[in-house]
Formats: sequence, C-alpha cells, structure tokens
Amino acid sequence: MFGKTGEGRPQLKVFYNEKRRFGSVENTWFDGEKCGTATQGTKEQQKLFDGISYFDIPKSTKLLKKILVLSSSPKTDDIILDFFSGSATTAHAVMQLNAEDGGNRQYIMVQLPEPTDEKSEAYKAGYKNICEIGKERIRRAAKKIKEETGADIDYGFRVFRVDSSNMKDVYYTPDKLGQEELFDLASNIKEDRTDEDLLIQVMLELGLVSLPMETKQIEGKTVHYVAGNSLIACFDEDIPESVIKKIAEDKPLRVVFRDSSFKDDSARINVEELFKMLSPATEIQVL
Ligand SMILES: C[S@@+](CC[C@H](N)C(=O)[O-])C[C@H]1O[C@@H](n2cnc3c(N)ncnc32)[C@H](O)[C@@H]1O
Repeated sequence: MFGKTGEGRPQLKVFYNEKRRFGSVENTWFDGEKCGTATQGTKEQQKLFDGISYFDIPKSTKLLKKILVLSSSPKTDDIILDFFSGSATTAHAVMQLNAEDGGNRQYIMVQLPEPTDEKSEAYKAGYKNICEIGKERIRRAAKKIKEETGADIDYGFRVFRVDSSNMKDVYYTPDKLGQEELFDLASNIKEDRTDEDLLIQVMLELGLVSLPMETKQIEGKTVHYVAGNSLIACFDEDIPESVIKKIAEDKPLRVVFRDSSFKDDSARINVEELFKMLSPATEIQVL
C-alpha cells in the first residue's frame, strides 16, 4: 500500500490471521481476570494447607504461569530463577505448566531463612521460617498436580543452604603455625562436613547439581554415582584397591576422592595407574 492517496511511503498490509502466526506483543496491563489476584493466591494456599494461608499476600500461580508462558518454552530445558521465593508460588507454577504443556522447565527458588513471627499461625504450625513454608508448599503442590493431571514430569526438588567452604583455611604464616595447627592440617576438609557436602560442592563446580544421584555400598565403602557414571565419588578413608578397581570398571567421566582416601602416596600413585589401565579417559580429582 502507498498510504491513503497512493502517494505515501510503501507500507506492508498484514491480515489478522497472518499476524497471529507471528504472535502478538503482550499487553503490559496484567489485569486480575487474566493474571489472577493476590486474593486468588491466598485462596490457592488455603486449599493446599487445609484452609490456612501461612504466607501473607502470595502471588497467584495464574500470574506466574502467565509470565512463564511469555518467558520460557516447553521445548527448551529452561531454568527459572526466583530470587525472592516466599511461599514458592513460582515452583508451583513451573510444575503446573510442565504438566500442562509437557515442558521440562526447572526452577531455582532462593529464600532467606526469614523467621516467622512467633504469634503467627505459621510458627504455631511448625514453620519456623519462610523456607519451611515454601518447601511444604512445593511438596503439596506436586502431590496435587500429580493427582489431578497424572503428568509424568519431575516433581522432585533439592534443598541447599549457602554455607562457608568445605575446605579449611590452610594459609598460615610460619609465626601463626603452632603444634595445634599442624595437627589440624592433617586433613584439609572441615571436620563437620559430610560426604553430601563434598559431593554437592563438586557437583556445583561441574554444573551437575540437578542431575540424579545414587549411593551404593561397595565392600563397606560409600560410593556416590551422579547421572550414572558422569561423576563417581568416594570420600571414605583408606579405600582398598578392590573398590577402586570396581569404580574404574564403571568408567566414570570424572572420579573424585579426598586426600585421606589414600593411606599413603604410593596408594595414590597406584590409583592413577589403575585408572590408566582400566579407564584412561577418566579425570581424577582429589579434594
Ligand atoms: C514478596 S515476597 C515473595 C512472594 C512470592 N512471590 C510468593 O508468591 O509467595 C518476597 C520474599 O523475598 C524474601 N527475600 C527478601 N530479600 C531476600 C534476599 N536478599 N534473598 C532471598 N530472599 C529474600 C522475603 O523473605 C520474602 O519471603
């Protein structure tokens, strides 16, 4: 077209059914009818928590689903980060939308362990901080969505708490190094850290934190498998050669031990030789 008089600048004429193929720019006016209200958010919580809403003014899953539809796709494994999780409405909406469109979206909910008011229903019900409300909400929402849709999606979630490094601060100047410190340096890992702490540290470093984990006992030693043999880890002391052999035969992409897993240096060298023989492609890491 060339404007009303035919003299104007050339313009492209697009019919509605063509325009729909391109999708339309979302209207930024999110009204309650289309996107849900805080009252609906509260009602949703009450339904989940036997008539009580333990979190003030939660968002509605309708609103969060709207935002997810605009910002994510069922075709790509999008990760949704909500840095102000509250009662975890976003996690609920992610599972709901995955169940509806077959998506495999994952979520990361971040929430300060903000204590609940001791006079509040939440506190009286045992939710000492807001994280606890969010976790229980996810469990109940997962159960409800599974019962209602039967959808074969991932309903699971893991909970992590940010903490200091698992590794001891081993940088001492000679004048600060006494007998006590020397004993303390026998192990570079803090005494109060568990296998799981070490495993999650390695999984975080490798970006594997959302992958399936399995733990096996091999001759009394605890061996962790992440995503099959993507990562195998054993943090026990003095791991016998027979267990190392079994691990190497599983041909892990990466294997992780801790220093004290080897009774001495020759045992450590022996492990490297065993992997060279049985699984040369395996990357060996020692914490
Ligand atoms: C408005 S609420 C979120 C409500 C949530 N969308 C819902 O539907 O339940 C904000 C939340 O962010 C949390 N918060 C505030 N500052 C934070 C921070 N720096 N890191 C993590 N969480 C934070 C607060 O404790 C509060 O629970």
